[in-house]
Amino acid sequence: MLDQATLNHAAQILAAVSTNERADTALRFYFESHRYLQPPAKRAISHTVFVYFRWFSWLDPKASPQKRLEHAVALHERFTADPKSIKAETLAARAVPAWLWDELDVPGDATAAATAKAGYLRQLQRDPALWLRARPGTAAALAKSLVACEPTALAPDALRFTGVQDLFKTEQFKTGEFEIQDLASQLVGVAAAPQPGANWWDACAGEGGKTLHLADLMRNKGVVWATDRNARRIDTLKRRAARARLFNYRTDFWDGGSKLPTKQKFDGILLDAPCSGVGTWQRNPHARWTTTPADVRELAATQLALLHNVSGALKPGGRLIYSVCTLTRSETIAVVAAFAAAHPELEPLPLPALGSQPFRPAQGPEPVEGPSTVFLWPHELDANGMFIAAWRRKSG
Ligand SMILES: C[S@@+](CC[C@H](N)C(=O)[O-])C[C@H]1O[C@@H](n2cnc3c(N)ncnc32)[C@H](O)[C@@H]1O
Repeated sequence: MLDQATLNHAAQILAAVSTNERADTALRFYFESHRYLQPPAKRAISHTVFVYFRWFSWLDPKASPQKRLEHAVALHERFTADPKSIKAETLAARAVPAWLWDELDVPGDATAAATAKAGYLRQLQRDPALWLRARPGTAAALAKSLVACEPTALAPDALRFTGVQDLFKTEQFKTGEFEIQDLASQLVGVAAAPQPGANWWDACAGEGGKTLHLADLMRNKGVVWATDRNARRIDTLKRRAARARLFNYRTDFWDGGSKLPTKQKFDGILLDAPCSGVGTWQRNPHARWTTTPADVRELAATQLALLHNVSGALKPGGRLIYSVCTLTRSETIAVVAAFAAAHPELEPLPLPALGSQPFRPAQGPEPVEGPSTVFLWPHELDANGMFIAAWRRKSG
């Protein structure tokens, strides 16, 4: 049941949310100016705001914010108690914008695709799982000390956290024993599989989620060049690396253009490109209603340009990993097909098998090499959706 205080806070936050002000940003600002709120209250308020955007198109726009919030929470409770109480066709029409269906290729024949589509849509309406990444080889020990952690066969260092404690306040977090990192993001690092002593370039490093993973997999040996065009994000990356006591990285500015930050050639390049974020719509449901087909088209053009610009920095035999937390055709297989056609010096690189469930070939209208591309679906992972593609620069 929704208490009145949570309802009032959530209603105030909704007033601040708009096309330009994302729900998660509005929540952050609100909590910064309401410092007296304790973690359980913040969790309840965030949850209510996200539930509102998951059920947004069921709500009567003429009703008061309080009434809409109550309605959203009631729908959420009904769905949680019985996910099949809401038909897949209804979810397809209301849980996501209509344009998505022109951009999504759900894999399989008609029956399998209908099951996958229903699974995907139901996943979008659930509360998202919280994933941790333990330092390499320490997941079992971390699970024991933190409690409420479940391992997964998909990634050796990933743990699903089911507890309620404030993880940022734990000793284990302060001493760098784990990062909060979605399972799909961790699988990008697993796909990259950098070797200790190698040199890698994480070209869109942002706040360093994947830089830290690469550096960790390299056992603090070799170097990861971390570049971004946003200096504030790089500052966060440095703070995170210090907490994790990772030193095998360096940072630089790169605006994505043809002038690269270094003349060095790399054993591996990760391009975790800016994207529409459709794969994050479970965690960030407000984005369902602000992302447009024009954004998708524009981002696909940016991704292709970024891939083109970084590809010249690969050593012969060097590996290029392209990842995007989206599932749209334009930003995934269409980018891959256009890039591959323009770069005969690269060959598709089979992705490694993961745990008990190997990477599955991507499906779509464009004939791309199966095992060198993969869609990770939210309902299969209980995590974000992600697309990964890999190439190797031919020797000689
Ligand atoms: C998906 S985020 C990276 C997330 C990061 N790799 C991580 O794991 O935490 C994409 C990053 O690309 C950067 N970016 C956006 N547009 C860019 C462009 N045109 N050129 C270079 N970087 C860009 C953004 O600043 C953002 O940090």
